Amino acid sequence: MPSILILNGPNLNMLGIREPAIYGSETLADIKRKCQAEAKALGLKVDFRQSNHEGELVTWIQKAYGKMDGIILNAGAYTHTSIAIHDALKAVGLPVIEVHLSNPHERESFRHVSYVAPVAADIITGKRGEGYVLALRRLKDILKNKNS
Ligand code: DQA
Repeated sequence: MPSILILNGPNLNMLGIREPAIYGSETLADIKRKCQAEAKALGLKVDFRQSNHEGELVTWIQKAYGKMDGIILNAGAYTHTSIAIHDALKAVGLPVIEVHLSNPHERESFRHVSYVAPVAADIITGKRGEGYVLALRRLKDILKNKNS
């Protein structure tokens, strides 16, 4: 069964409390449950994690090498700053789907740059928690095409 690493960056542990008009009222635990249900339906295994620390996210990406089949990443604000996360994603060479609950391109200009985008197979924005479900489906398709 293909294994998918779902990584969440800084402040995403505050979902539910954090700016609900932008991010919605779902908590990260709600999103995790959604992902687990969808993964089960798709025949995927998921490892769902969150960290406020850039280095920890880099380590988890590195550890996915040889163990996981794809990555879904909402890097939060590190999306717009982290060359280290960009390099780690490039190093492991796994298919990556970039997810954002909001649409960063409709927000402040400092959110318009993504260091994840150049290494992402696809980008899903503005769909709130549903974006993770769509990302799982997209990864399943990518893995199917890779193995056929
Ligand atoms: C976010 C968008 C980022 O700009 C922001 O820093 C976040 C959340 C999103 O999911 O919409 O923390 O990645």
